[in-house]
Amino acid sequence: AGSGKFFVGGNWKCNGTKDSISKLVLDLNSAKLETDVDVIVAPPFVYIEQVKNSLTDRIDIAAQNSWTGKGGAFTGEISVEQLKDIGCKWVILGHSERRHVIGEDDQFIGKKAAYALSQDLGVIACIGELLQEREAGKTFDVCFQQMKAFADAVPSWDNVVIAYEPVWAIGTGKVATPEQAQEVHVAVRDWLKKNVSADVASKTRIIYGGSVNGGNCAELAKQEDIDGFLVGGASLKGPEFATIINSVT
Ligand code: G3P
Repeated sequence: AGSGKFFVGGNWKCNGTKDSISKLVLDLNSAKLETDVDVIVAPPFVYIEQVKNSLTDRIDIAAQNSWTGKGGAFTGEISVEQLKDIGCKWVILGHSERRHVIGEDDQFIGKKAAYALSQDLGVIACIGELLQEREAGKTFDVCFQQMKAFADAVPSWDNVVIAYEPVWAIGTGKVATPEQAQEVHVAVRDWLKKNVSADVASKTRIIYGGSVNGGNCAELAKQEDIDGFLVGGASLKGPEFATIINSVT
């Protein structure tokens, strides 16, 4: 980990029921967590209120998506204002499942990020390459293009955390090696330095996501440019998520 405060997010995706979530919240409330780590969880929208009302204030809440502008006649969407109204501090945008399963493109994601930031909602901006892109030697090109779309849209990087999630590592149990992750994190930081500013490059946290678990987090956390994690499957298990949070070095 680098010099910024370690940041660990639990992305619950489209998982859980009222009962399983109340059990998970109990486990998180009783876990002993390192103090010097920012921790967030992103429940499905319909359970945010339940989590907000039962989870310790030590952990902030993120949404898994938000609309591109003010609310109104947009059936099925959730506005940034509504998320703030129920106590969300962050939103995850550009997740690979939204890019590749739902079909969101760079411009649409950039618009969402810009609007969320304009309303003081922090953005966890996800980037990452597909397996065939890695195999074709295009990892950096793909990540830089996704970075550019965010950079072109956002007014400031103050409230942004970048999550590098190689798509081939998500939910597959095939975690990137610490060296593979570190290599991309350095390249992304370098990109920020060249294209935004040295200050933003050094201050912006770059977290890793993709099959992070209690067993592999410590080695990853040792890398200089890995400033935390975005965790899917393992964040649904309270004790294991706590282990990942406490892997800060
Ligand atoms: O956003 C977190 C994520 O995509 C990683 O999921 O299940 O591989 O930890 P998982």
